Amino acid sequence: MYPKGFDRVVFTAEEISSRVRELGAQITVDLRQDPGNTLAVIGMLKGGFIFLADLIRAIELDLTVDFMAISSYGGASASSGGVRIVKDLSESIFERDVLIVEDIVDTGLTLSYILRNLRERGPRELKVCTLLNRTARRIAPLQIDYSGFEIGEEFLVGYGLDHLQMSRNLRYICTVRGVGP
Ligand code: IMP
Ligand code: MG
Repeated sequence: MYPKGFDRVVFTAEEISSRVRELGAQITVDLRQDPGNTLAVIGMLKGGFIFLADLIRAIELDLTVDFMAISSYGGASASSGGVRIVKDLSESIFERDVLIVEDIVDTGLTLSYILRNLRERGPRELKVCTLLNRTARRIAPLQIDYSGFEIGEEFLVGYGLDHLQMSRNLRYICTVRGVGP
């Protein structure tokens, strides 16, 4: 069974796609914009790219798409220390309504860095949508506006989420034996 060490499906492709449609519908209602105010959707690379691709097709608003990539010093998780931008936005978000799209919020350190950084650029509104929310490990207090699924401590891969850069291409989300807590 693919991937190597495959353990258990946590969210099927069907469950993901139905939840993504719900989130898109909710965002469409909430962020219905003034004419001329186009929503700026910002995808966090790399994990958020598949979720973003599906989510924007479920949002019925005028929007633009931009990407940002950050990396954490000394390890895979921001909990190990500092964070730095390795790819910045290509367009200004000044006075725009912004929706940040993340794959997973774990400790919240990555997202709180991003929020602080983007707030300084003067957006009109800054909202967050994450596919997965692991509140049990939260260190940085955060307000998450849209969350697909609450998850436990298990390490998950698929639908954009990786383990050692692999398994992003799975249509479902699963656990992998021997990885995680
Ligand atoms: P945070 O700063 O601890 O919230 O870290 C969030 C980042 O850690 C995510 O964007 C992922 O890249 C990574 N991460 C945390 N948990 C998982 C997981 O279960 N699977 C894959 N990546 C994870
Ligand atoms: Mg990520």
